[in-house]
Parts: sequence; C-alpha cells; structure tokens
Amino acid sequence: MSAIPRTAPTPLAERPAWRALLEHHKKTGTLHLRDLFAADAGRGERLTLEAAGLYLDYSKNRITDETIALLMGLASECGLRERIAAMFSGEKINVTEGRAVLHVALRAPAGERMLLDGVDVVPEVQAVLARMTAFCDDVRSGSWRGHSGRPIRNVINIGIGGSDLGPVMAYEALRHYSRRDMTFRFVSNVDGTDFAEATRDLDPGETLFIVCSKTFTTLETLTNAHTAREWALRKLGDERAIRRHFVAVSTNAEEVAKFGIDPQNMFGFWDWVGGRYSMDSAVGLSTMLAIGPEGFRAMLAGFHAMDEHFRSAPFERNLPALMGLLSVWYNDFFGAQTAAVFPYDQYLKRFPAYLQQLTMESNGKHVTLTGAPVGVQTGPIYWGEPGTNGQHSFYQLIHQGTRLIPCDFIGFGKTLNPLGDHHNLLMANVFAQGEALAFGKTPEQVKAEGTPDWLVPHRVFEGNRPSSTFLLSELTPEALGKLVALYEHSVFTQGVIWQIDSFDQWGVELGKVLAKKIIGELEGSGPAPGSHDSSTTALMERYRKQQG
Ligand code: F6P
Repeated sequence: MSAIPRTAPTPLAERPAWRALLEHHKKTGTLHLRDLFAADAGRGERLTLEAAGLYLDYSKNRITDETIALLMGLASECGLRERIAAMFSGEKINVTEGRAVLHVALRAPAGERMLLDGVDVVPEVQAVLARMTAFCDDVRSGSWRGHSGRPIRNVINIGIGGSDLGPVMAYEALRHYSRRDMTFRFVSNVDGTDFAEATRDLDPGETLFIVCSKTFTTLETLTNAHTAREWALRKLGDERAIRRHFVAVSTNAEEVAKFGIDPQNMFGFWDWVGGRYSMDSAVGLSTMLAIGPEGFRAMLAGFHAMDEHFRSAPFERNLPALMGLLSVWYNDFFGAQTAAVFPYDQYLKRFPAYLQQLTMESNGKHVTLTGAPVGVQTGPIYWGEPGTNGQHSFYQLIHQGTRLIPCDFIGFGKTLNPLGDHHNLLMANVFAQGEALAFGKTPEQVKAEGTPDWLVPHRVFEGNRPSSTFLLSELTPEALGKLVALYEHSVFTQGVIWQIDSFDQWGVELGKVLAKKIIGELEGSGPAPGSHDSSTTALMERYRKQQG
C-alpha cells in the first residue's frame, strides 16, 4: 500500500484539534506551575507514567488535564495510531525516498514476523546478528588474528553521522560493560587531525578498522578509510593484510568490494534502516565488540520493549507519544526554539550529540509529505550536556534568561561507580534543578532573606520553566536501548503531527555537491570567473594563497 498521501491533508493550523489547542493556550499559557501544584496536592504523583522500566514525571510541565486531552485529540486527528501501524507493517512511509522504515525489525526477537512487501525480514536480521556474533566472539577470544599473527587489541570505527554518532554514543554509554583490555576509537571528521590523533599511539598489527557507511560513498568516510589503508599497509607491507585488519558495514557490497574489503568481511543492512536509526544494526558492530554479543542482545531487548510499548499503549499512557506531543506543545504553542536534554550520568556524555542527528536530521523539514509548506514551526533545536557540568555553565540562561527551554532530566537510581556520596550529590542536583526551574523564588522570598531592594530583581527566579524527569534504575545495555527507542518514537510522533517525512535528509545534499565542485577548484586552477558569488570566490582565493 502506498504511503504517499494523494491529496494534501488539511493544513495543520486549520485542524480543529490545533485550533482548540490555540484557544486553550490563550487561556492557560500563563498559568504558573506554583499555582497548578498548589491547586492539586497529588499532581506530582498523578502526572507520572511508568512503562517498560522507565519512570517519567511530567508534572512539572505547563499543562493541565485538558492540555493532555487536547494533545491526545491532536494525535488521533493526525492519524498517529494509523501511522504507527503503517511503520510497523513495512509501508513505504519514507515517501520521498520510496522506502519503508523498519528499524523496529532490527530488534524484533527471532521468530517474530515483520513483513516488507510480503517477505518476513526478521530471519535476515537474525542471520546478520549471528554473523556479527561469530565475528565478535573470534576477535574477543583472540582467535581472529592480525596479519602478523597477533590478536586485535584496537578497534577503530570509521564512519560519520549515523555511522558514527550511535556507535560512539553506545560505546561511551556502555563503557562499564566493555572489554577494558581493548581500545575503541571513532574517526569521523575529514579533518586529518581526527585520524592522526586516533592512530598515533596504535600498532597497525593489532588494529582492526570497521569502515562503516550505509552508502559506502560518503566522502569523509572513504577518505579516512583510504588513509587507514595506507597507514596499515605502510607498516604491514602486504595487501593481504587488508583481509585481517579491515571489515565493512554497509548496504553497498559493490563499493565495499571496490575498496578491497573481502565480501566475507562485510556485515550488511538494508535501505529500510535510516542512518540515524541504525545503531542497533550491523552499524553497532563496534558496540558488540566492546560489550559482547550478549550485552548487544540485551540492548536490542530494551529497544524492543519500548517498541512494543509505543505500538500498543494508549496514547495517554504512552511514553514516546506523550513526550512527542509535549515537544509539539512547547515548540508550536509557546514558541520554544530549543529543547535541552541533560543526562545526569557521565557515561551518557555523547547522548545529546547523538540526539541532535536523530531529532534535527529527522524533523528539520519545511514541507509536508505532499510538498506543501508545513505552516507551523517544526523540529526544535536539541542540545545538552551531562549534569552537573552544565549547571556551572549555561543553566543561568535557563533559570533567569528570557527564553523558554523545556528540559529533559535523565537520572538513575543506582550508579555503576559507587564512590562515597557522589551519586546522592549528583541526583540531589537533578531534583534541585527541576524544583528550582518550576517554582523559582519570589521577590517576597528574596526580600525575606534580607536582600537590599535594588538587588531583589537580580535574585528573583520567575520559575514556571518546564521540565520532565526520567528515572531509570541503572544504566545497562537494556536501559540504553529503551532510552534510544523512546526518543526515536518521540521524534516519529512529532513528525506525524507536522505531517513531514522524518526519514529523509535532502537538506544535507547541496553542501555535499558544492564541496565536491570546490575541491576540484582548490586543487586545480582556482574558481572559474563567475562560478561562485564574490564572497566564496574571495575566500577560496585567499585560502589558495595561504597554501602557497
Ligand atoms: O549526510 C548525512 C548522512 O547521509 C546521514 O544521514 C548519514 O547518517 C551519514 O550521512 C552517513 O552516511 P553513510 O552511512 O552512507 O556514510
């Protein structure tokens, strides 16, 4: 069944549910969280949700019960239930690329059926997982040897975007579970410094490169992969060494073979897995090497638990749906331009960077599925840092600045590194930040502390700054899978409301094409007269002079 809407659906801003929310916002948008809590003693327990082992407190959001009801109405009116079903049933909902969106099949347990054009894709997924498992067992046990007979001690993933951000985030997040006698590094930037610094202290004879690229045509990745090849061959001196030191993760067997990687050493995936939705496919080979096949399967089970919850729970008890709708509420009705995500766990330090691609490459779109202007604001800018570091940097603006920035706090009941009272101090800060943002400090309170009048306005915290707090018990591979799937489906929910294609990324193309043209000109005789604007031409000429 085609997922391309034949006729333009009613523009979002004209939908009854949207209009009702606009009216509702006019009436309730200025309500203060202080008053909402004062009027409802049970709010902090009532506006919570527990599912798939995740606890969400969403009571410190600027909502009433009616807001939730209206947002649920919007979800129904925009066909969220039907769109979820379409995704899970392999419809080609990535309409501009004519592709299905089936990353949920990557974590479906063996035996479950997920159909694409009438064919069950789960056996293929499981077959790749089995090959990954055998390979990782060989490398981890030392039975896979480098060209000179030594075991692999270093793994370098070369990839960019979805072929890097997921692997590096997962490695950092699950470092506690990783092989500590192996080194894992990630090279993404075409800046030679990235490669040089990642390899400077490594022995090629003990190093395995994973060249990770869905298309196997990405300029940055191919450039780094060729440099890696030269680096390895310089020391190992024999083309046959490539077989033992290079593996590929890709959908493009032809290009992999052209590069010189043995097809036996290629782990495949499929065009129905978007790059930013691929960390649980073969793209996660480095993750599996680090934490082992069992850990990887546990992560997949976490993803799957959240998938099942998203697919089946009613919207008012559905974590990703609720998160996505709250995001729309702030983005479109309060005019919030950004959304902050603060994991209070050092291991999640790359989680915000990972989310930036997931959210912004997915929902940074200006037209609907039928090509009409969306007519409302889409994808907010996601950003964040692990707590508590951000508190001593940019939290000032969140507390007392002029912008509204909804925040997600992510904390864990137990730490993986119990050291004195560190964890209590860390978590005390999660709770304190949410409380301070919501309730602030009134002028009366500030005055009562003996503050001179002139200083009072500077010390007042308006409060009414929304946040959601996620509490999980411990950062395990399973918990990471749940968290990632939670944000994936929240992004999907937002995209459904905005009626956009959350799975294409045409916006990255123009820069790529221009860069290719400019490389030729920089390395040739310079820009031809009139081939660029005056600014670009002058910059290129200056650069060429600097190069001598
Ligand atoms: O340029 C954007 C992008 O296409 C991302 O969507 C993707 O994750 C990344 O490049 C890397 O692509 P590939 O895995 O094909 O090298």
